[in-house]
Amino acid sequence: MFSQRLMCICKNARSFSTTSLKNVKVAVCGASGGIGQPLSLLLKQSPLVTELSLYDIVHTPGVAADLSHIDSKSVTRGSNGPESLKTALSGMEVVIIPAGVPRKPGMTRDDLFNTNASIVRDLVDACAKYCPKALIGIISNPVNSTVPIAAEVLKKNGVFDPKRLFGVTTLDVVRANTFVANAKGLDPQSVSVTVIGGHSGVTIIPLLSQVKPKVEFKSDELSALTTRIQDAGTEVVKAKAGAGSATLSMAYAGARFAISLCRGLKGESNVIECAYVESNVTEVPYFSTPVILGPNGIQKNLGLPSGLSSYEQDLLKSAIPELKKNIQKGVDFVHKK
Ligand SMILES: NC(=O)c1ccc[n+]([C@@H]2O[C@H](COP(=O)([O-])OP(=O)(O)OC[C@H]3O[C@@H](n4cnc5c(N)ncnc54)[C@H](O)[C@@H]3O)[C@@H](O)[C@H]2O)c1
Repeated sequence: MFSQRLMCICKNARSFSTTSLKNVKVAVCGASGGIGQPLSLLLKQSPLVTELSLYDIVHTPGVAADLSHIDSKSVTRGSNGPESLKTALSGMEVVIIPAGVPRKPGMTRDDLFNTNASIVRDLVDACAKYCPKALIGIISNPVNSTVPIAAEVLKKNGVFDPKRLFGVTTLDVVRANTFVANAKGLDPQSVSVTVIGGHSGVTIIPLLSQVKPKVEFKSDELSALTTRIQDAGTEVVKAKAGAGSATLSMAYAGARFAISLCRGLKGESNVIECAYVESNVTEVPYFSTPVILGPNGIQKNLGLPSGLSSYEQDLLKSAIPELKKNIQKGVDFVHKK
């Protein structure tokens, strides 16, 4: 049922967990939603997770009761409503946040800002209070702005550690792998595309000149594929026709990212994911690049891969002004009077 790549992640996690002392406590905030439920299911399967804390403002008792019957070793518990945030988050080492509204046809991710900004602000404020050392992965859109919001909230609470805050852009990588594999008749499991920048439209920059294994694209194929990767979320929003945005593929991508955080936390070496993080690799203060994950979150930011093609350099030039605007909007939101 699940792809080989996630099975492989789970298998690695299984063999690794037998040699380590301690597994990881993971919370999902927004656990009853379209992403939250399948994400929680995938995390429930991972032997790396000892405790799975499901938080939402609705339905978590039911979701947690349902998942708790699965015969994996993690303990699952549900917490419902803001008064239970302390219970939900205390002691958590990884917190994944897919809480908030998704897009409807015709909406951009930025159109979600007004609703999701305060949801992320309040959840991250609770993380600052109850699990200040947790690695936090933000899925809620617009990620380009919600990550700066989270950073400013953590700073206000005096607990910001840039190595521990991530915007989850893994779905862009997963989509790029799939689309390139389909275009070239390859096994998607064998394809690896680095995607840098941000997580909306022109800020999504797939590095198609650096695909592993090496593949060649004609220029019209290159631009069609790049546009498809940038607009892939909208493809799903249109196909769902008002019933939301990507949930199942996002749950897969979110689980891959969360499990990578756990593997790094437990000291596994060379765990690498692209993520939108505080950064000085370009002129914007948040930018997605490949990072090595370790026991304290980001062990090393691998920066901009060298040898970007001129096409990719142009994509980067178009992304920067949009990212700047999105980041400033997030920062201003937290500091507005
Ligand atoms: N990063 C990505 O690549 C990516 C991909 C797809 C979707 N998303 C985003 O993920 C978010 C969730 O999408 P979805 O399809 O699961 O939406 P959904 O509406 O199905 O679920 C959202 C859940 O959040 C909960 N929620 C709302 N306010 C909350 C609060 N204050 N505290 C805790 N939980 C709260 C809701 O009750 C609901 O269960 C959206 O913002 C969407 O745009 C991100």
